[in-house]
Amino acid sequence: MSVAKKQYKRITTKSLVEMKANGEKISMLTAYDYTMAKIVDGAGIDVILVGDSASNVMAGHETTLPITLNEMIYHASSVVRAVERSLVVVDLPFGSYQSDPKEALRSAIRIMKESGGHSIKVEGGKEIKESIKRILNAGIPVMGHLGLTPQSIYKFGTYTVRAKEEQEADQLLEDALMLERLGCFAIVLEKVPAALAEKVAKSISIPVIGIGAGGGVDGQVLVTHDMLGMTHEFHPRFLRRYLDLYEEMTTAFKSYISDVKSKDFPNEKEQY
Ligand code: KIV
Repeated sequence: MSVAKKQYKRITTKSLVEMKANGEKISMLTAYDYTMAKIVDGAGIDVILVGDSASNVMAGHETTLPITLNEMIYHASSVVRAVERSLVVVDLPFGSYQSDPKEALRSAIRIMKESGGHSIKVEGGKEIKESIKRILNAGIPVMGHLGLTPQSIYKFGTYTVRAKEEQEADQLLEDALMLERLGCFAIVLEKVPAALAEKVAKSISIPVIGIGAGGGVDGQVLVTHDMLGMTHEFHPRFLRRYLDLYEEMTTAFKSYISDVKSKDFPNEKEQY
């Protein structure tokens, strides 16, 4: 029997927990600017993540580490101005929350006050427990992020699947249970075996949103530029491409160049 989906005028952290309880999968995509956020929100996405992947996608850095808190606030405020329905989650960037809980809270407050975002996301488990508690105590909703946490790429050494070994898998489950206990409203699980991800999702009542974590979790997230096929040199197994925008944009740009060179553009109707 199919269950009628509840219509949400605005998505809140509570809506997401409700969706999990009702068996409705959660959709999440990234956006870093006004125009993209407007399209993604208008299409009906549940959650927009202003990810620190902006460091790679927008700024061309090799990792997510260089992006600053000011830059994240700039991206997030552009997104917030476009959004009418989605819940906006903003990544706390590397270096803005790991050193001590007071600094973590200051960074989270800056995101909330200066960008208007609705919640923040942090990477890690027990090692950042005190920071998460501080942020939650201030009334700021927190999304966790476990598994392949790109801010720790120099510790891992590679972007391959995490938690394949029992010890790391056990620790990941423990961290997920802890994040739920602390009061986080959801967890992103990145690049872990599907069976483990499903076990985690079944062990907690808050939603688990996967990227490269299989279909047994409560929702999916992708980087928008990847799923649109704009970043054509990146092709992990988990990525489904819905367009080949790299090719389509290149064709459009070539046509424009050719039209300008040949004096076809502008024509009589395209001038005053
Ligand atoms: O920064 C980001 O885009 C992310 C997603 C990959 C989950 O954290």
